[in-house]
Amino acid sequence: MKTGIGVFIAAAFALGSSWCGLVLAPSLQLGSAKLATVLNSTDTYPVQRNGDATLGLQIYRANGCAACHTEQVRQEGVSCEVSLTSLGKNKPEDFKPFAQSLLTLPEWLDHTKELSAAFKDWTGILPQVVLAKTDKESADKMADLLKAAGCKSETRIYAFGSDLSRGWGNRRSVAADFLYDNPVQLGSLRAGPDLANIGVRMADANVQLQHLYAPGAVAKNSVMPAFRYLFEVRKQVDGATSPEALTLPKEFAPAAGYEVVPKAEAKQLVAYLLSLRANVPLYEAPFTPVISAKP
Ligand code: HEC
Repeated sequence: MKTGIGVFIAAAFALGSSWCGLVLAPSLQLGSAKLATVLNSTDTYPVQRNGDATLGLQIYRANGCAACHTEQVRQEGVSCEVSLTSLGKNKPEDFKPFAQSLLTLPEWLDHTKELSAAFKDWTGILPQVVLAKTDKESADKMADLLKAAGCKSETRIYAFGSDLSRGWGNRRSVAADFLYDNPVQLGSLRAGPDLANIGVRMADANVQLQHLYAPGAVAKNSVMPAFRYLFEVRKQVDGATSPEALTLPKEFAPAAGYEVVPKAEAKQLVAYLLSLRANVPLYEAPFTPVISAKP
């Protein structure tokens, strides 16, 4: 009997601690997650998916897309880049020696190489990157120096990492990206590319449909399975192609007199794919969208 109580306590502890770790802790951490605010804007993020896209998430799930695709972008860090956008009253030829003089300041010794490279062949074309791959503090210091010299500059924040250099997004994925997803389709294996931003990268619904019907029609030699059962191959009515019919390259086109039209599931799945647009800057994952060039 004594051992029975021991086993009971050990089992209760094992189950209880894993419940705390796997259920309670995440719920305390993220259970009350709210809409995030887009950086430098009053817009909230994410936007609720429309009806088709919400249904599309279930089609995505049912078809096992998450077995080959992730929806989570990683990043290795954040950097700043300072660009000169206006010389004010300075002339390019006067500015060059000024930039060179910065090199002698002790705080820029680490950046000497970049600064001299930035102005080596510079002919006065703006915007010109002055300082790259630097931290916020150095960037602010440089911006102050340029301001004091009567110039205008812009500091751009950007995230970097291998996922980002593959073109999978501008920043890492954060919890807010998944606020409306149920269940979240994070995925863990990347036989295909990450899809967190596919709505931005492949924004044409027709291309998405063609790709699902015949991946090879969009990506040459694609090894992605074709999801043909999401489409109907039907006889053309009176020999005319309906507006919904897919335009396919010859080798994937149906027999003459037939056409391929998407079923509701395919349209919902594509609506979902197009809604995957985790590309706004947030407080917890900042980046500067585009650098605006000023004369
Ligand atoms: C067996 C693995 C596998 C499965 C399952 C799979 N895919 Fe893919 N997918 C790939 C591969 C490999 C590629 C890259 C080649 C290409 O673009 O066709 C890809 C590419 C894509 C692309 C284009 C990505 C880009 O960046 O160009 C989209 C969109 C996509 N898949 C959606 C889906 C959807 C939706 C499903 C589920 C209905 C799905 N995939 C199921 C392997 C898979």
